[in-house]
Amino acid sequence: MTNNQIKVVAHRGFSIKYPENTLIAYEAALQLNIDYLEIDIHKTADNKLVVIHDDTVDRTSNGTGNIKDYTLQQLRQLDYGEWKGESFKGQTILEFRDVLKLVIQYNKRLLIEIKKPEQYPGIEQLLLKQLREARVKPSNIVIQSFNMKSIKKINEIGVDYKLGVLISVKKYWYRRPNFKMIASFAHFINPNYKLVTKKFVTTAHKYQLEVMTYTVNDKATHAKLLKTNIDGIITDAPDIFCNY
Ligand code: G3P
Ligand code: CA
Repeated sequence: MTNNQIKVVAHRGFSIKYPENTLIAYEAALQLNIDYLEIDIHKTADNKLVVIHDDTVDRTSNGTGNIKDYTLQQLRQLDYGEWKGESFKGQTILEFRDVLKLVIQYNKRLLIEIKKPEQYPGIEQLLLKQLREARVKPSNIVIQSFNMKSIKKINEIGVDYKLGVLISVKKYWYRRPNFKMIASFAHFINPNYKLVTKKFVTTAHKYQLEVMTYTVNDKATHAKLLKTNIDGIITDAPDIFCNY
């Protein structure tokens, strides 16, 4: 591990400073001493994988509408930088394939979140196809989702990539995670930082699950988390935690 024993994951790139999930945010993060770049993927109307967090373009572009209703060409007409600041105008949507080339170039690990797979039939197979085509090192890839079924499906297909289950505060209160069951098909359990206790991490480790928690943007929270033996933090501000 490069960063004071716990992994530092750049959440949507260096997203506190740059427009999330864009080339400028990714390159800024990859130039730091991060362990992973975290990205979110969706599928377009013409079956292309693109990186963007929400299932609509409304918040992070100058357009409106659902990703699934647009072709890649249509999504390319929009601007994804200006909402964050005038100087970022001109950022376009990236295909997942472009991000793979980027992480290969920088020799970094990639944490891929499949967003709303229930909306995108076949997204798992398409993702695996593009990973194979890019000949990315399997040990550099972790695939995660809040949708456990999607991750189970990938495990059943049989892959060399590591897999992870995301846990939100809301889901946790309805049904506490069954660590043993999750460990039967995944390698990571990645919760909201508000759920992390020493007991949570100890139980995860008992089942050989690693724990990377989101989204940690301040040193006080980071210090508390270090005491729980956490394996990694997912942060919008990777500059604070690299070499820290
Ligand atoms: O990687 C974990 C984190 O990204 C999950 O939440 O909403 O930021 O995608 P969200
Ligand atoms: Ca995410």
